[in-house]
Amino acid sequence: MTERDATAAWRYHNATKHSYWSVRLEGHQLDWANEPLPFKLYRGLEPIPLPRDLHATDVPCLEALASAEYPAEKEAPDLPTLASLLYFSAGITKRVRYPGGEIYFRAAACTGALYHIDLYLVCGDLPGLSAGVYHFGPHDFALRRLRAGDYRAVLVDAAGQEPTVAAAPAVLVFASTFWRNAWKYRARAYRHCFWDSGTILANLLAMAAAHRLPAKVVLGFADGQVDHLLGLDGRREASLFMVALGRGTPPAGTLQVPALSLETVPLSAREVEYDEIVRMHQAASLADGDEAARWRGEPPPMPLPPPSGRLYPLAPLPLSASEPTEAVVLRRGSTRRFDRGGSISFAELSAVVHCATRGIPADFLPSRGLGLNRLFLIVNAVDGLPSGTYVYRPEAEALELLREGEFRQQAGYLALEQPLGADACVDLYLLSPLGRVLERFGDRGYRAAQLEAGTVGGKVYLAAYALRRGATGLTFYDDDVTAFFSPAAEGHGVMFLTAVGVPWRRRVQN
Ligand SMILES: Cc1cc2nc3c(=O)[nH]c(=O)nc-3n(C[C@H](O)[C@H](O)[C@H](O)COP(=O)(O)O)c2cc1C
Repeated sequence: MTERDATAAWRYHNATKHSYWSVRLEGHQLDWANEPLPFKLYRGLEPIPLPRDLHATDVPCLEALASAEYPAEKEAPDLPTLASLLYFSAGITKRVRYPGGEIYFRAAACTGALYHIDLYLVCGDLPGLSAGVYHFGPHDFALRRLRAGDYRAVLVDAAGQEPTVAAAPAVLVFASTFWRNAWKYRARAYRHCFWDSGTILANLLAMAAAHRLPAKVVLGFADGQVDHLLGLDGRREASLFMVALGRGTPPAGTLQVPALSLETVPLSAREVEYDEIVRMHQAASLADGDEAARWRGEPPPMPLPPPSGRLYPLAPLPLSASEPTEAVVLRRGSTRRFDRGGSISFAELSAVVHCATRGIPADFLPSRGLGLNRLFLIVNAVDGLPSGTYVYRPEAEALELLREGEFRQQAGYLALEQPLGADACVDLYLLSPLGRVLERFGDRGYRAAQLEAGTVGGKVYLAAYALRRGATGLTFYDDDVTAFFSPAAEGHGVMFLTAVGVPWRRRVQN
């Protein structure tokens, strides 16, 4: 990456926008005979089964979500804790049969249920697991060892000696095989890498908080070095970010990493490579640990002009009233139809906004609050709050009314003409002032902004389900959304949309 160059990000972002005309003219047909597998299956590696008797934690989900850093007690995760983190973030939680087969739904939402994100574990010796590099297989809830021995020093070097990676007994690396999502979404799949890993990350951070295990997201690292360690080619399949878990002493392992060549089951008869994805990913990559160390840091200031609309201070419900995250994750699913007659209370919306925006521990974000995105809302049916459009003001912990009125029709249109957007009680949009973000972080800032938004969106999902409401991620007409929220949103790119509402239930006939 040429430092602070962001031309690739602008090109990619503009080329992958949805508009009224783009969706009508693109003419992309799904080739069902060539649908990729939703799993990475290694041939010839023995599964190491993970314990399935997962102990429940006692931290209420809303509290876990709201804690950017929950008081950490554990220094290193043991195998049962790792099993719990992996299951409730990326495990299979539901199997649904349909005439053509069966879909294995997972703990976190994923565009198109295509599940293109894989998790790898790089660890020293842990209670119950020897040092190594492992792949997590959700299909049989097992790890597979790709390398034996302690390779954490490679991550420390790649991350430019980032202190939490240097002290972590275990690190999870998130990666995507682009084709598994691009089969349906083509070049837009690169955005989905961060959306779909963001929802997994939201669950993971809540579970880490519940286990009182320190966790930090690290996006500043030399991509090639990490890909090489995991045996990824960086073009078809690439690492996205890592999460340092626990706190210990720096590893003394090797930096010598022989090439891996492990056979996997082909995903489909043929694969298509999308140039836009390859170009974007390479432009946003870092060459070595020194570049990673220079890249990371505080986000740019994002001052909003003083409020001119009425302010509604958040009034969240008591967060302690919710169930533990595990129960919420097992209940979560994307709502397929909202009840247009339903409403949520302002206290519930306040809890969702509060929990989702407390902050994400990451090497490119502030210790508290949002760093690269702003939250805009279309309120359709929230008791105690006039319908209209709002922007969240973190400094005042309040929603500022931008325009009062009934916007259900526009809300449905902006969500790619899907009724879910219109029938929801509230649509929560994350928009990023991309000019500032890319000026500060270069092309890699695009990954950062998408990842923050995806993670906040994942927190919105969990918070809504913790309140026994429904939620779904939705896609959107990019420029129409920016125009709709302008002038407040001028110069912003749309990153993520989650709709929250009351799930529709068939009326029982007497
Ligand atoms: C970022 C994101 C965008 C999504 N966009 C849509 C959408 O536009 N329309 C839709 O019906 N569902 C959408 N979904 C929901 C997914 O289809 C759903 O997560 C997936 O089928 C898995 O099901 P589950 O969430 O119930 O586990 C989206 C999900 C995410 C995470």
